[in-house]
Amino acid sequence: MSVSVTSFFHQQSATFCYLVCCLNTGSAIIIDPPADFDAPSGTLSFTTANKIIDYIHANKLKLEWLLETHAHADHITAASYIKHKLGSTHPCKLGTGAGITQVQDYFSQLYQIDMPCDGSPFDELFNDNSHYPFGECQFGVLTTPGHTPDSVCYLIDDNVFVGDTFFMPDSGTARCDFPGGSAKKLYESLQKILSLPEYTIMWMCHDYQPNGRKLANKTTVAEQRLTNVHLQSSKQAYIETRESRDATLSAPKLLHPAIQMNIRAGALPKELTPQLTIPLTVLL
Ligand SMILES: [Fe+2]
Repeated sequence: MSVSVTSFFHQQSATFCYLVCCLNTGSAIIIDPPADFDAPSGTLSFTTANKIIDYIHANKLKLEWLLETHAHADHITAASYIKHKLGSTHPCKLGTGAGITQVQDYFSQLYQIDMPCDGSPFDELFNDNSHYPFGECQFGVLTTPGHTPDSVCYLIDDNVFVGDTFFMPDSGTARCDFPGGSAKKLYESLQKILSLPEYTIMWMCHDYQPNGRKLANKTTVAEQRLTNVHLQSSKQAYIETRESRDATLSAPKLLHPAIQMNIRAGALPKELTPQLTIPLTVLL
């Protein structure tokens, strides 16, 4: 095996962040780094991100990429913070799926943010089946829309980092009710991931520990094929079950701050005192 995978769990959002390292060179990538956000006080902090930065320094790694699997709705990304904090000693790139332009376009209008919707400030927008080197290794990109239009998975050796597509087999799959989401598209994306070799290791983005079971973030394509609780019936049944379940779900607690920050790769709003907004829904 030419890479190592180290996971960091962010308790607040039940998110796994991954640091993948090329063993021969020490070149590394980070996938889905989370920031901490206290909504009542509007305080943004970086406990998990700082742990990852300390790990990079302690192991003398060279960070080359900060990757997002999608614009998350449940936590703010620490990607821009880490890029800024590591500075010129680690001139890494920010990358995400090319569908981010669609997400930027929709949400910049909703939140009235004056910003270009061309994918900036990300450095690289990924299309399906593209490949990028880090050290002597490479990562491949699979576009997997459904949860969001910009969702991608990253393939590295026999590992796939699935973002919000699959959850652990006992938890099923991700919701599809955000703008631009589609249960039909997610089903097709899930099949695309399931077509990988059965020994491929799937690394989860989230684990919500149903029925209090032990935290878990790793499974295989074979296990998902056989036991995922959402995929043991037809495509039509999946879509109907997914859509009816999504209709019962409430908005993620950090939806508004997370999306406003994440369409900018976690960069702060430009105002002297940065502001985030909450569009009102009024029920009369
Ligand atoms: Fe998500």
